[in-house]
Amino acid sequence: MSLLSRNDARGIALKVELLGSSTEQLAEVKAALQALAEPRLEVTENAMAASAAQNGTNGYAELPDVVMVMLGAEDGTGLDQLAHHARKDNRPALFALLPEQSPALIRQALRAGADETLFLPLNPADTTRAMLKVSEARRRTEKQTGGNVISVTSLMGGAGVTSFTINLALALHYRFKRRVALVDLDLQTGTLGVMLNVEPEHTIMELTGADKVVDSIQLEAVLAKSASGIYVMAAPKHVEQSEMIAESTVERVIDVMREMFDFVLVDCGTTVSGNVVAAWERSDRLFYLLDQSIAGSRCAFRFIDVFNRLSLARIKPQFVLSRFAPAYAISAEQVSETLARPIYATIPKDGQTMERVELSGQDLWRIAPNSALAKSFEELAGRVIERPEEVQKTGNTGGIVSRLVSAIVSRAKGANNVAR
Ligand SMILES: Nc1ncnc2c1ncn2[C@@H]1O[C@H](COP(=O)(O)OP(=O)(O)O)[C@@H](O)[C@H]1O
Ligand SMILES: [Mg+2]
Repeated sequence: MSLLSRNDARGIALKVELLGSSTEQLAEVKAALQALAEPRLEVTENAMAASAAQNGTNGYAELPDVVMVMLGAEDGTGLDQLAHHARKDNRPALFALLPEQSPALIRQALRAGADETLFLPLNPADTTRAMLKVSEARRRTEKQTGGNVISVTSLMGGAGVTSFTINLALALHYRFKRRVALVDLDLQTGTLGVMLNVEPEHTIMELTGADKVVDSIQLEAVLAKSASGIYVMAAPKHVEQSEMIAESTVERVIDVMREMFDFVLVDCGTTVSGNVVAAWERSDRLFYLLDQSIAGSRCAFRFIDVFNRLSLARIKPQFVLSRFAPAYAISAEQVSETLARPIYATIPKDGQTMERVELSGQDLWRIAPNSALAKSFEELAGRVIERPEEVQKTGNTGGIVSRLVSAIVSRAKGANNVAR
C-alpha cells in the first residue's frame, strides 16, 4: 500500500475544540464532525480550560487548530468567548455555530472575530469546505516555515550522533505526532537501523545510478518502518558499496523525502564527505554534537573551520552538548566560551538508561518515558517545531553553492584524504 494513501498521510488530524453550554448540542455537533470523511478531525469539548490547568507552565501542550463556539440565539452567549480567542497571539481558526440564519447574529459573530459562521444542525458540505480551508492553510504554512530536514553530525566518534538522531525523531513522532523518516548517511557503519531495531531489507543502494529517477513510490519501497512508526532509509549492506552512493542520489533522496514527511533526520556520522555536505546543503537545521572534553572542543573547532570554508550561508550549525554532566570539571559555559558559540541544548548523560534501551531492543519512550533523557528530547523537539525562525535562511544560491562545495570537498579530499 502506498505511504501517501495511508491514513497518516492525510496529515495529522486537525484538532477541534467545541465550546458550548448545552451537553446535548455538543454531542450532536461532535457526532456530525466525526461523520465527515475529510479532513481527519480530533474533537474535544470544553477541554482547553482543563488542559491549561493540568499542563501548568508546559508550553508544549497541544493547541487546537479550530475552536468552534456555539452562540445563543438571543442572549449573545459565546460572543465573549469568540472575542477572547480572537485576541490571542497564536489564535486558532474561529468558527461560530449559530442556531439560526439571522443576519444580525452573523454580523455579531464576525465582529467578535469569527472566521467562519456555520448553522446548526451542521451541513456536512459546508463544514467540510470550512475545515479543508483550515487544513490546507496549515499545510501551506508548514511547508513555508519548514525546518523539515535536520542533519546531525560530529567529528568526534561516539558523541552519540546515532542515538541523538533516533531520539529526536521519536520525540517528534510520539510527542508531536509528526511523520518522521531517518536517513543513514554514516554509510560505512550503517548502525541506524540496528539501533532502531529494524532489519532493513532494502537500502539506499537501490536508488543509485546516474540516470535513476527517484520518485516517492520507489523511495517508499526502499524505506523500512520501525515498530514506533518512523521510517528509515538504511545504509548499504556492504562497506564497499558506500563508495557507489553519489551526491546526486543523496540530493534526490532528500528532496523526495522532504515532500513525503514532516521531518527528515539525517545521521551524518563523523566524517565530512561530499554526500554529507550535500545533506547539509539541503538541511534546514544542522546539529553538531560534542561532549565536555578537550577532544570534543578540538573536533568542534575543526568542524567550524571546514563548515566556514564551505560557505553554506543557508544554515548555522547549532551546538549540542550530548551526555551532559553538570558536575563535570569542564562546564557548558566553558565549552561555549572556548568555541565562541552558544550551546543550543544539552542532553543529560544517562548511561544506565541508554544501556537498558540498547539491551532491550525497545526505544527510550518504552523504557523510560519520564526520564530526564526523554524529556530533554521532547523539549528539543518542541523548540525545533516552534522556532523555525532561529534558523538562518538566506535563500540558497543552489547550483553555485553546489559547485563551490564540490570544488572544496574534492580539494580537501586530495589534501587531507577525507573519506567520501
Ligand atoms: N545521553 C547519553 N548518555 C549516556 N550514554 C549515551 C548517551 N547517548 C548515547 N550514549 C551511548 O554512547 C554510545 C555511542 O552512541 P552512538 O549514538 O552510537 O554514537 P555515534 O553515532 O556518535 O557513534 C552508545 O553506547 C550509546 O548508548
Ligand atoms: Mg553512529
